[in-house]
Amino acid sequence: MTLPIAIIGTGIAGLSAARALKEAGHVVQLFDKSRGSGGRMSSKRSDAGALDMGAQYFTARDRRFATEVQRWQAQGVVDQWLPKLYQFKSGQLTPSPDEQVRWVGTPRMSAITRALLDDLPVQFGCRITEVFQGKHHWNLQDADGGNHGPFSHVIIATPAPQASALLAAAPKLASVAAGVKMDPTWAVALAFDTPLDTPMQGCFVQDSPLDWLARNRSKPGRDTRLDTWVLHATSAWSKAHLDLSKEAITEYLHGAFAELLHSTMPEPSFSLAHRWLYARPSSAHEFGVLADADLGLYVCGDWCLSGRVEGAWLSGQEAARRLIEHLQ
Ligand code: FAD
Ligand code: NAI
Repeated sequence: MTLPIAIIGTGIAGLSAARALKEAGHVVQLFDKSRGSGGRMSSKRSDAGALDMGAQYFTARDRRFATEVQRWQAQGVVDQWLPKLYQFKSGQLTPSPDEQVRWVGTPRMSAITRALLDDLPVQFGCRITEVFQGKHHWNLQDADGGNHGPFSHVIIATPAPQASALLAAAPKLASVAAGVKMDPTWAVALAFDTPLDTPMQGCFVQDSPLDWLARNRSKPGRDTRLDTWVLHATSAWSKAHLDLSKEAITEYLHGAFAELLHSTMPEPSFSLAHRWLYARPSSAHEFGVLADADLGLYVCGDWCLSGRVEGAWLSGQEAARRLIEHLQ
């Protein structure tokens, strides 16, 4: 009997690998500690509609990824976002238009991973704590003491610190993953009953606690009842304020937003804060994938390539390609 392949993580990397393996005729079983798919590409449902708290948009510079994005567009789960872009530098807010094509999931970012997951078998709310080897197979242990398996191979598609904790069976891979540091990002969403008096829809920010802000409702297909904004703090600011309460973070970033607009800002009718502990790799890596093909263990994720959506998808493809190649 052919055993299924276990994939830990239903972010874009894990689902990219899962799709490629399924297309090649393999059976996969996915696991995620969260209640749904998407990881850092997920969207939060809220009273102000769905909000993209993690990835804001993505670019497609690699030919293979660009082809995949076209497929998603034909399926109706992505569209181009053409924001009125600004930049904030040395206290000055100025328009900063460019020619870059930027994509978003529609009607929310999580639509992409939802479509990729489709009918693949998955167990949500299942935090894997151990990946261990039987005689000719793998088993997984979860945080509730449950045991899963047997599996022929395991693909770990989580941020590097979470991957290294699962790699006891492959100490060399574990030490490479442990060497990859990832920085946090505080994200805050604000919704206003009356639209803010600015044409801005996206802004790259410097010299501020903020790194980026976006008018969520300017993205295609979004709920437009309220004027919704998503603010991201810089890695340095997020690190320095890691354990502050959500209320205090919201107040700080709301204040930084007001400073940027040089206006007294109304109180939001709704706010939400989210801390991404492992938001982005601290430095660039070009692993593509970490693999011990003889053991049957593969590790992929954005941190193995560009730290962006595109890199995560490509890393998942690479994990699947290497696994399939080893079986031939
Ligand atoms: P993830 O999306 O992190 O997926 C990993 C999954 O593994 C998660 O679902 C998690 O729940 C699960 N998991 C972890 N540990 C376990 C375990 N032990 N057991 C079971 N499941 C587990 N990229 C861009 O290209 N453009 C942007 O504008 C952009 N903005 C961003 C803004 C923010 C605030 C953040 C946080 C990220 C942003 N990114 C952006 C980066 C982009 O979101 C990531 O590169 C990409 O989504 C990573 O995908 P992934 O599959 O590698 O990892
Ligand atoms: P991109 O090409 O739009 O942006 C790359 C970078 O170029 C921007 O961060 C910005 O500094 C600069 N830039 C681009 N267009 C600009 C303009 N019109 N005016 C001024 N500056 C401009 O997108 P790419 O390369 O796909 O990068 C993805 C984005 O995701 C980046 O902005 C990156 O910072 C962000 N990201 C955020 C993470 C987080 O945790 N907050 C994690 C990973 C990515």
